[in-house]
Amino acid sequence: MQKDTVLVVDDDPLLRRAFQRKLEERGCHVIFAGDGATALSRIQADTPDIVTLDVKMPDMSGMDVLLELRRRRAQVPVIMVTAFGVVDDAVRSLKLGAYDFIEKPVNFEKLENVIHNALEARRLRSEVARAHAEQRNAFSVDKIVGVSAHVREVRALIKKVAASEASTILIQGESGTGKDLVAHAMHYESARRDQPFFAINCAAIPESLMESELFGHEKGAFTDARTQKKGMFEMADGGTLFLDEISEMTLGMQAKLLRVLEGQTFRRVGGVKNLTVDVRIIVASNLNLEDAARTGRFRSDLFFRLSIIPVHLLPLREHKDDIPPLLEHFIRHYNEKFRKRIQGLTKEAEELLMNYNWPGNVRELKNAVERVMILADERRATARHLPIRISEGGASPVEANDGAFRLPPGGVSLSGIEKNLLRQALEQAHGSKTAAARLLGITRDTLRYKIKKHKLE
Ligand SMILES: Nc1ncnc2c1ncn2[C@@H]1O[C@H](COP(=O)(O)OP(=O)(O)OP(=O)(O)O)[C@@H](O)[C@H]1O
Ligand SMILES: [Mg+2]
Repeated sequence: MQKDTVLVVDDDPLLRRAFQRKLEERGCHVIFAGDGATALSRIQADTPDIVTLDVKMPDMSGMDVLLELRRRRAQVPVIMVTAFGVVDDAVRSLKLGAYDFIEKPVNFEKLENVIHNALEARRLRSEVARAHAEQRNAFSVDKIVGVSAHVREVRALIKKVAASEASTILIQGESGTGKDLVAHAMHYESARRDQPFFAINCAAIPESLMESELFGHEKGAFTDARTQKKGMFEMADGGTLFLDEISEMTLGMQAKLLRVLEGQTFRRVGGVKNLTVDVRIIVASNLNLEDAARTGRFRSDLFFRLSIIPVHLLPLREHKDDIPPLLEHFIRHYNEKFRKRIQGLTKEAEELLMNYNWPGNVRELKNAVERVMILADERRATARHLPIRISEGGASPVEANDGAFRLPPGGVSLSGIEKNLLRQALEQAHGSKTAAARLLGITRDTLRYKIKKHKLE
């Protein structure tokens, strides 16, 4: 491990030597400056990890050095060494941005602690900054791959929306079309990028908890409310709140959400105070909300409020020219992840991908690439590594063939097929159990039983 470098600024040679001995004992690398001007140039040239700064020096007071560091926006933490009992100096230096102060005569054990804390705080801060930068990079709009007019429009729209003051955005598209990706990009491309981004999946939260999840609750608001809790709206203040699968929200909650969107104020459950926040709301749905509004499953006033800026992501089968660049992108991704060097797919395999209709959209493509990359050893992956439904030209594992089902030479798992068909039926029926049961020619009860059996919920 690299040693931390401490710059000790003090005009008293005896004290400098004492600092040196003590700090070297605990494994620091120590450098010195006897006056303010030297201190400033050493900070520039030697980039110490931390500085201890004597308040009283002949040329420039420690306070002036601190001021100058501040003017230069130097990030290095500074510990002021002040005369005993001179509270004014201590307070002033903290106001000027010193990390902490320590009084003379110096208690080195205390100094060690202060230095340790300062270095720790700085490490944490730079870790947070790095994580932020990574997130920004991971979710930048450039990570949305595609050459089609559609994807280019989506990217342009994200940039436009991100730069705007739009308070609500609606993203619609089939499952796997990239709604999550777009929501993240909208946040990380916006001026809110350093503020929080919170996501909530409305389908995953039981109705009874939803209100408190979104708006928080006061202590004692209900039996389990032992402490006060902030809701997502409060926590995301200044940032973005992403409400995924909004169609699953109950009509009652929809009404409450609408009220917040119109006034941006709300109360915690059990609270009496109106809270105001500044939150951008992005909602996503893989159901067509307009249809849902027409049939009464979704409040139409909320739909209109949400659809001020609608983003519609097309199914992959409608922009197949993006398959080759997506393929290249995912191959690069998994080459890195699996430490492989696969160059691509054979012509034949690529054609199969182009001909398939991708009900699971980009996610299905990504999963297919992952599978191929795990199985393939050769430089160019062949069709035999593709999932059967794709390598058989888009047929599902069982295909009606003049009324009969064809059993593949390798055999099949009957239960697997059942599960697969159930999933497809539920997808085609957009989650409606009645419609899915009809597609499979079974009763709702049988369907429910089978969903449970295959753990599809
Ligand atoms: N244009 C794209 N470029 C690169 N990756 C993409 C693109 N579109 C989708 N993906 C990837 O495909 C996967 C599925 O996308 P995502 O989770 O955003 O879909 P979704 O619309 O939110 O699906 P669901 O409705 O099931 O929640 C993710 O891994 C995402 O990164
Ligand atoms: Mg999603």
